[in-house]
Amino acid sequence: MDSTSAEDWPDIPNVQDLVALDRQALSELSDCNSLANIIAWNTKYLGDQGLVTLQLKQIPKQDAQHRAGFGKAVNRIKTTLLAKKEEKQRALKEEELKRSLAADALDVTLPGRGVPRGRLHVATRVMREIRGIFADLGFQVYRSREVEDDLTNFELLNMPPHHPARDMWDTFHTTTPGVILRTHTSPGQIHVMRELCPEPIRVILPGMCYRYEQITARSEIQFEQVEGLCIGARVTMADLKGTITAFARRLFGQERQVRFRSSYFPFTEPSIEVDIDWPKEDPNADRLTKGTGWLEIMGAGMVHPVVLQNGGYDPQKFSGFAFGMGPQRITMLKYAIDDIRHFWANDVRFLQQF
Ligand code: PHE
Repeated sequence: MDSTSAEDWPDIPNVQDLVALDRQALSELSDCNSLANIIAWNTKYLGDQGLVTLQLKQIPKQDAQHRAGFGKAVNRIKTTLLAKKEEKQRALKEEELKRSLAADALDVTLPGRGVPRGRLHVATRVMREIRGIFADLGFQVYRSREVEDDLTNFELLNMPPHHPARDMWDTFHTTTPGVILRTHTSPGQIHVMRELCPEPIRVILPGMCYRYEQITARSEIQFEQVEGLCIGARVTMADLKGTITAFARRLFGQERQVRFRSSYFPFTEPSIEVDIDWPKEDPNADRLTKGTGWLEIMGAGMVHPVVLQNGGYDPQKFSGFAFGMGPQRITMLKYAIDDIRHFWANDVRFLQQF
């Protein structure tokens, strides 16, 4: 209903005042352009002392003849103004929302904030690389335990109690007699032989070893080893040298020098040690190689007949080679890292470099 249409107005004496009031209120309402304006407008017309409210209070004072017509007209003005006010309020709220959305718009073209990503430890990466090379050479991975007994870690590897060679492995003992942390991955040779005998074997045994040693730039109390074991009908020293050379050239490049030195281990006969040349330009070369230019990366040899026997193989029919290397040493060589202690120090500044 439009309160401004002239025919709707009742025939009362002061109708002009009401018409004027109605028009004024409507025109001011349409000028309101903020919610604050609307509140002020509401106080002026519809509040307790508002102009329309004052007219409502006039109803009882009208003479009987015009009271009903006057009352209807004023009430209609009030109802209509209220409805129009609410409509306007809604429109203004919507407008304000649109304005604030436009002002605080999300810029989807801004580059996102980077999420820092973790990475594999350099030791893990090199370990995977080593496994990959040996996989290509036909070696499977065999997992062996880190907590060992004296029997497997020493005795079955041809080191009876009180054998002086045990001095090469300073051992962490547990409170249970005979239970130790493995000092090398070689006891895994016994496990794998006993499990697979009389099949031929070609495995590597990667894993953590522990030695009760003084910690220096070259030695840690905890380090990884990769053991290798190959057993078959006619495995020779030439197979050992060929395998190790192929491995070293794959890992370090064809130009790398590999050196075999005769050595001693109770569980191999003959025994050798394998060295790789360390770049002379490296300022740490002297300290790491003790002035020789060579860094020892593994011990190796032909599996001792006693060990073959302990594993269940007849030394008359089978022969084999074994090697044990320290991937941390190899990683140091590959990335020119000057101190083995960095590996387990967990310093992100070191770890982030790889
Ligand atoms: N187990 C020896 C070590 O820890 C390395 C080795 C393994 C030597 C296999 C020969 C054969 O030093």
